[in-house]
Amino acid sequence: MNRLQTILSRIEKCETLADIGTDHAYLPIEAVRAGLCERAIACDIVAGPLHIAKKNIRAAQLEHKIDVRLGDGLRPLRENEADCIVIAGMGGMNIIEIFCGGFAPGAVLPSASLLSEPPRTFLENAETSQNEVSDKSFEGGSGETFSKVSPEKIPEKNPKKIKFILQPQHDLEELRRFLIANGYKINETLARERSRFYVVVDAQKSCENSDRWTDRDFFLGKIDDKNYFRALREKIEKYFDSLTEKNSRDAAQKKLEWLEEKIHDR
Ligand SMILES: C[S@@+](CC[C@H](N)C(=O)[O-])C[C@H]1O[C@@H](n2cnc3c(N)ncnc32)[C@H](O)[C@@H]1O
Repeated sequence: MNRLQTILSRIEKCETLADIGTDHAYLPIEAVRAGLCERAIACDIVAGPLHIAKKNIRAAQLEHKIDVRLGDGLRPLRENEADCIVIAGMGGMNIIEIFCGGFAPGAVLPSASLLSEPPRTFLENAETSQNEVSDKSFEGGSGETFSKVSPEKIPEKNPKKIKFILQPQHDLEELRRFLIANGYKINETLARERSRFYVVVDAQKSCENSDRWTDRDFFLGKIDDKNYFRALREKIEKYFDSLTEKNSRDAAQKKLEWLEEKIHDR
């Protein structure tokens, strides 16, 4: 299955699906068409893609089912508004920043210095939202308007109800560390487009997170596919010689050993 089909296959029937970083809105359009959700919210931080999203939604005659919103990460969502949230096609660190900026008060970060800006706290977000105008439409150029909803409260009071479907383009290991440290239970599915593999991560808050993750687990994840491991090995082998620091070489060497073990069932 290709990347978008695999993401769709992970959506369980829900009421409201939010697609963060929707770009062209292909995913919410297909999810509504397939009856996977009653309605959808297509969000993006950039107005340009939302013009195309609106055009695609209009062409699919789904304007009454899909709301288009401009804003950063989860901030365009109201409290408890979505029961399934997809964040796909961006880097793992960007996904972590979206979690922190939206509603992960007290989140344990893998390394805050890796984030491009310090994570906003729950309170900081709430204060900002008071200064913004709720439900104001936004003129995104070319005369079109998008909803710009500032939540009165940060979503969501009951995070266990929300299923997240995440598809990082890179920094998968960091994303796994972040999710496990913050009490999410995760499952993973592999997608393939030509020679490129993508890992789709489902994450849901759980109070009984019994999984004990080692460094090996954070690197290998829950996928068990020898072709995927071979592709990872090839990627590391390509940059291995350019590693000059001993620590980086040792870490890469360890990863190669773990991959060899998986490839040869050891
Ligand atoms: C490569 S596209 C992925 C589109 C689609 N989700 C997919 O998987 O095919 C990434 C999109 O994420 C948007 N984006 C990046 N950071 C964002 C953020 N913090 N909040 C909302 N959208 C964001 C970008 O503007 C861009 O349209």
